[in-house]
Parts: sequence; structure tokens; C-alpha cells
Amino acid sequence: MSDLFEDKAKDWDERPIPAQISTGVFEAIERSVSLSPEATVLDFGAGTGLVCSKVAPRVAQVLAVDISQAMLDKLAAKPELAGKVEIFCQNILETPLERRVDLVVSAMAMHHVEDTPRLLQTLFDHLEPGGKVALADLDAEDGSFHPPDIEGVFHAGFDREQLATVLEQVGFEQPTFTTALTVNKDDRAYPVFLVTATRPALSGT
Ligand SMILES: C[S@@+](CC[C@H](N)C(=O)[O-])C[C@H]1O[C@@H](n2cnc3c(N)ncnc32)[C@H](O)[C@@H]1O
Repeated sequence: MSDLFEDKAKDWDERPIPAQISTGVFEAIERSVSLSPEATVLDFGAGTGLVCSKVAPRVAQVLAVDISQAMLDKLAAKPELAGKVEIFCQNILETPLERRVDLVVSAMAMHHVEDTPRLLQTLFDHLEPGGKVALADLDAEDGSFHPPDIEGVFHAGFDREQLATVLEQVGFEQPTFTTALTVNKDDRAYPVFLVTATRPALSGT
């Protein structure tokens, strides 16, 4: 499979929009879930580690998952993440990690995965009982956020109510949305949501 982020990886960290999104998403994560020094966190679609690098100092370990080797090579080159972030270049929908985590975070990766119910089921299965997701992506838009001929974009954002329904169908409890930030691009405003939801704790624990 070709690496759709091979070119973008070269200057991803210099681009203003990913920097703005990762800062806004991290601040929303901080407000919405507890980042405990004992926690293991999975960053789905971690890319070059813009969100990871903010989360990592606050938790025990981050598992950075992505299918772009080029993006992960940039992450691997960040010395401050060495020893704290473990890198997995694999499609966990097809090959799950043999690990369970306390929290899954994700920024702007869900719209690159066609089968949202399967993605959310995969994230649910990687969580410890009582664990949470904190997932950020575009609110439903008219398709103008990305160039029209872009490959690998399957969703023009997400409708919050529909996404809440899918989260509940998978087994998550209490899907809760906030607006993490609004991106202004080409004179248009694109809100980015953060949804948190919980994998139920085992009964009797
Ligand atoms: C828009 S970038 C966001 C990267 C990073 N989260 C950030 O905020 O800078 C989307 C990322 O999702 C990754 N991605 C796409 N499909 C994926 C999949 N099935 N599994 C894991 N990562 C995926 C891409 O390779 C890319 O690195």
C-alpha cells in the first residue's frame, strides 16, 4: 500500500494548521479526561507525534499507531519522545496490538478510515474496562476542507449525533462532545470536535 503521507511528512511540523489543531485538541483532551502518570495511552493516527509529544510528559507511556512510515520516522527522530513513546506502523483494524490501554486519543485520523464502526470497535477492544477514548475530527462539512482530488479521505467530517449513535452501538457509554477549536482556512470556519466516551468497567469491580 502506498504511503499517502510520504510528501506531507516532510514539512508536517512546519505547517500552521496541524500545529494549531494539535494544540487545540491537546487542550481539549486535558480539559476532558484525566492524564494520569500511571496511564498507558494509544494515539491512533499519531503521525509525526504532534499530539503525542504533548501527552507523553503527563503519562507513563504512549503507543503511537499509524500506517505512514514517513510520518512515524519524523516522530521517531524526536529525542524527547525516546523511551516514552513506542511506535507501531500497522493497521490495527486488521492486526490489533497485543496490548490494552487506559486511554485512546486521536486527532484528525478518523476521516481517513472508511469503516467508522469497525474503527470504533477496534479502539474499544484495545481499551481496559473503564478506559476512555478522546477522539478529535472535523464536524460535518461540505467537503471543502480537503482538495477535491485527495486520496484516502473517506468522510467530510462527522455528524455528532450519528457518531454518538455508532459509539453507543459499539458499547461505549456517555459520548460527550466539545468543540476543541475552529480552524479558519480559505475564509471558511471548520469546527473540530473532541468526543470522549467510556468502555464500561467490569461489573463488580
Ligand atoms: C491528518 S494526519 C494527523 C496526524 C496527527 N494526529 C496530527 O494531528 O498531526 C492523519 C494521520 O492518520 C494516519 N492514518 C490514516 N489511516 C490510518 C489507519 N488506518 N491507521 C492508523 N493511522 C492512519 C495517517 O497516516 C496520518 O498520519
